[in-house]
Amino acid sequence: MDRRPIGVFDSGLGGLTAVKELEQVLPRESVVYFGDNGRVPYGSRSREIIRGYARQDMDFLMKKGVKAVLAACGTVSSVAADIGGTLPVPYFDVVSPTARAAAAATRTGRIGVIGTSVTVASGSYEKALRAADPSLAIFPRACPLFVPLVESGFISPEDPVVSLTVERYLAPLREQGVDTLILGCTHYPILRAAIGAVMGPGVVLIDSGREAALALAGRLAELDLLAPEDNPRQADYFVTDNPEGFREVAELFLGHSIESGLRRVTVE
Ligand code: DGL
Repeated sequence: MDRRPIGVFDSGLGGLTAVKELEQVLPRESVVYFGDNGRVPYGSRSREIIRGYARQDMDFLMKKGVKAVLAACGTVSSVAADIGGTLPVPYFDVVSPTARAAAAATRTGRIGVIGTSVTVASGSYEKALRAADPSLAIFPRACPLFVPLVESGFISPEDPVVSLTVERYLAPLREQGVDTLILGCTHYPILRAAIGAVMGPGVVLIDSGREAALALAGRLAELDLLAPEDNPRQADYFVTDNPEGFREVAELFLGHSIESGLRRVTVE
């Protein structure tokens, strides 16, 4: 048993997709969330820059006394997993659990993968999917405008800016006949309604934040690192810029207030 919080980080709002799932499956666990929205987006930057940011993000969480770190970011997971592996606490990321869930969900073996430019260029999901099942047909596509949309609060499927952007990126995947689509950037499940509307009801959407949270929950239980039943859950959110903008979208997405536990910090 361990009452220390779980540390979760992302370049901004995307990691909340993991937090939302943790609230469901581990309601007693405290969480420290770090969103680096002062430097978002990560997914179009160089590998070296992203690795430097990832190291700082992890250091920040370690200083908060977390018992585990979840890189709830497809981009960091794709280019900085080795850094996470050096931490003195268990480290989790999104790629492997998400790929396993997609390989289990597909019926036709045709899987689309959407993510940031860096994630798609890294081939991380393709490698993990091929490890799960070498016969899969995989259709990757970068969607670089999705993160700025979410960070700017454009998330409603009724908003034509959202629906047109999603249609523009995803129509080719729909035409490829995928039956499963990996939302390989954790920001993308926040656009789930719009993505689902474009792909149609026959396509299973795999939420990378959710899959990572489920994998983490299972592993913490195995390691006997879960908090006891009487633990009062506490959630602290730290961002590197614009707490107001973060709060607005975060509360809409999580469906509850985060007001008391939100602070702006600088990392270096
Ligand atoms: N949520 C991050 C990911 O999963 C977004 C990266 C970015 O900031 O571009 O890749």
